[in-house]
Amino acid sequence: MVVRMSLTVRRVEYTDQPEYTRLGGEAFGTPAGGRPAPTREEWDAAGFREWGTFDDGDLTARLRVYGFTSWFHGAQVPTAGVAGVAVAPERRGSGHLARLFGAALDEARDRGEVISTLFPTAPGIYRGLGYDVVGSFDDVDVPLQNLSRVAAPDGVVTRRASVADYDAVVAVHRAWAAAQNGPVSRAEKPFWTPPEKFFADYTGVTLAVDGSGDVVGFASWIRGEGYTPATAVMEVDDLIALTPGAARALWRTVGSFSSVVGTARVSTSGLDPAWLVLPDLTATVHAAHPYMLRILDVAGALGGVESPLEGAQVPFAVRGARDLAGAWTLTVSDGVTHLARDAVAIEDAHHVRPVLSPNGLALLYAGAQSAANLRTAGHLTGAPGHDAVLSALFAGRQLHVRDYF
Ligand SMILES: CC(C)(COP(=O)(O)OP(=O)(O)OC[C@H]1O[C@@H](n2cnc3c(N)ncnc32)[C@H](O)[C@@H]1OP(=O)(O)O)[C@@H](O)C(=O)NCCC(=O)NCCS
Repeated sequence: MVVRMSLTVRRVEYTDQPEYTRLGGEAFGTPAGGRPAPTREEWDAAGFREWGTFDDGDLTARLRVYGFTSWFHGAQVPTAGVAGVAVAPERRGSGHLARLFGAALDEARDRGEVISTLFPTAPGIYRGLGYDVVGSFDDVDVPLQNLSRVAAPDGVVTRRASVADYDAVVAVHRAWAAAQNGPVSRAEKPFWTPPEKFFADYTGVTLAVDGSGDVVGFASWIRGEGYTPATAVMEVDDLIALTPGAARALWRTVGSFSSVVGTARVSTSGLDPAWLVLPDLTATVHAAHPYMLRILDVAGALGGVESPLEGAQVPFAVRGARDLAGAWTLTVSDGVTHLARDAVAIEDAHHVRPVLSPNGLALLYAGAQSAANLRTAGHLTGAPGHDAVLSALFAGRQLHVRDYF
């Protein structure tokens, strides 16, 4: 099918909200009675950017972009998080998404956002746009029965947090997040929450406190209904521990509900260190939400990354997306990466330098795949001489994400 030239792609205005909300409700389902369009105040305050494709004034495709920072390679990286992507059922399969994303991502790049991320309903929708799966945000069911087997912590106790502990909770999240690739920093709306609202959202926030009185972990949890272990489920949004003692103390506190709650549904993302203290293999994934990433600005994302590989020099090229195509030389000096653009025809680059697809670039940057695996997947071709250094430059941090959008 062909995209009609009468289509207009533009920012969604407040006056478009009834149609925008209706199209979203149709795609994602709404509670009985429908979801009301936001009030002007709510929409103005939300701080996201909404884009739409219009055919003679009718909204036929939509998406929303959240501008926030996420942690990659020890820095808070400006990120365009895309959500709420929907095409009107009668227009699906017409190639609407490429133009809509093109406009929204051009704006993101102009605003200084160097990567874009999203949670897909199906990865195939976004692969052709240069996104690829770098991790997964999962709800994992942990049976509480065996948590008493977690070894008792040495010198770490738990206590209930109050609003006065908000800064300590934020500091624990930051210390953990800064050591990973992927976590939303929670420094910007809608992921930043005022302290009172943060505590109001949970039944309890439990702190792990070490012998010096320092907060070394926290768990935020919603108790849920009922006291029959076979059916009662409690939700744990964050269980973040900076020491093994904190992990043990928090798991044991959650486990202390085992006479009345059978399962803790814990939000996590792969092998977090806090899970390495668990004694059994009874946890099961209840729901998995893969996370995809695309690079928006090659030099902006891959430059300025801290690296111990002083003196390393890697020429590389990217082929396959108009905004990313080109050749660069990456060097490490003064402990960080620097990118210089090279005047090399991409067709000639193949013989002398590694050539990445947009997806390969995303997977490499996130540290999600090695150069060897990218070659296996067809996302890296060309000269292999720099593969080991290319892998080492961006590897070493695990991918975690704990905020859904
Ligand atoms: C998903 C949706 C937005 C795709 O719209 P569309 O008009 O079919 O998209 P396009 O024609 O522009 O196709 C874009 C790509 O998505 C792929 N695609 C579409 N539906 C897909 C699906 N269900 N599974 C995997 N890939 C899919 C197409 O094959 C195409 O791939 P290509 O670029 O490699 O050729 C639309 O079907 C929809 O609104 N679905 C319901 C809501 C939803 O799932 N939204 C996504 C939220 S993350």
